[in-house]
Amino acid sequence: MKDEILTLLKKEKKLAQETIDELKDIEIHDFAKLVEEVGKSDTEHIKASEISKDLNTEWVGKNLFIFNEVKSTNTVAKFLATNGAENGTVIISEKQTDARGRSGKAWESPEGGVWLSVIVTPNVHYSKLPLITLATGVAVAKAIERTGITSAEIKWPNDIMIHDKKVCGILTEAVTQYNSIENVIIGVGIDANIDVNDFPEELKNGTTTIAEELGRKEDENVLIRYFLEEFEKIAIQFNNEEYEAILKEWRKRSYSIGKIVEVREPFNKNYDAYVVGIGKEGALIVEKIDGTLEKVISGECIIKN
Ligand code: BTN
Repeated sequence: MKDEILTLLKKEKKLAQETIDELKDIEIHDFAKLVEEVGKSDTEHIKASEISKDLNTEWVGKNLFIFNEVKSTNTVAKFLATNGAENGTVIISEKQTDARGRSGKAWESPEGGVWLSVIVTPNVHYSKLPLITLATGVAVAKAIERTGITSAEIKWPNDIMIHDKKVCGILTEAVTQYNSIENVIIGVGIDANIDVNDFPEELKNGTTTIAEELGRKEDENVLIRYFLEEFEKIAIQFNNEEYEAILKEWRKRSYSIGKIVEVREPFNKNYDAYVVGIGKEGALIVEKIDGTLEKVISGECIIKN
């Protein structure tokens, strides 16, 4: 972790190797202060003042750290979270060089996208983590709707789709200590103002972008503000245990319900099933070919029709 942060500091602060070598010996907590200091400058497209000027939140995004380039905003968020960053702190990067997707996949993060991580410190049991991801999906869908796009749907558990193509992915990671959750890092990647042709060949067909759908670019700062506002609203519902209200919003935008899928769960054989709905703890409820109902808690569901 220290090496990754040093590379970040070297690049962003244009520090000489000599200075970097000296930094190697400083306390990890002071390191965090340096990272925060670097994250206080704007980048070409992402500007704290633009995000904050109309931001209508109490605690989400009150602390914003913005970088030109990091390996992964989730990694920086984890580092800052374990070094005292407050609930609602947001880490944003213009691009990421080693971003993570679900199931150990890499995540393409060129300039023009919205790549961010929110640090939250909810007082919850592990069993509630899937609901946090679903709630974030609803917040992203609502943020996208505010740009004028009316057809954002959520593919279980956390892909945001527009016209059958993926526009956003969410990666939720827990920071734990002594078997309890200290922080949750919610990583959101929205393909905002990227040209689909710039994606690798294997992603081109299944991917869309906000710019592509709108026929114009949407200011990343505005999109980030929309998301932070929607996220706080749903986080408040979550903290008040209004899970059913969150699930209702999820179901309204479901891309998965009513479809035939191939269920791919870790350690299980793949099988085909019909998606019946979503359970109260966020699991997908499917009906197998033999008519039995199954709860899918983790893994992937590949749409077959
Ligand atoms: C998925 O596989 O669909 C999840 C993709 C999550 C990508 C985001 S971009 C910001 C944050 N940083 C990461 O390294 N990953 C997440």
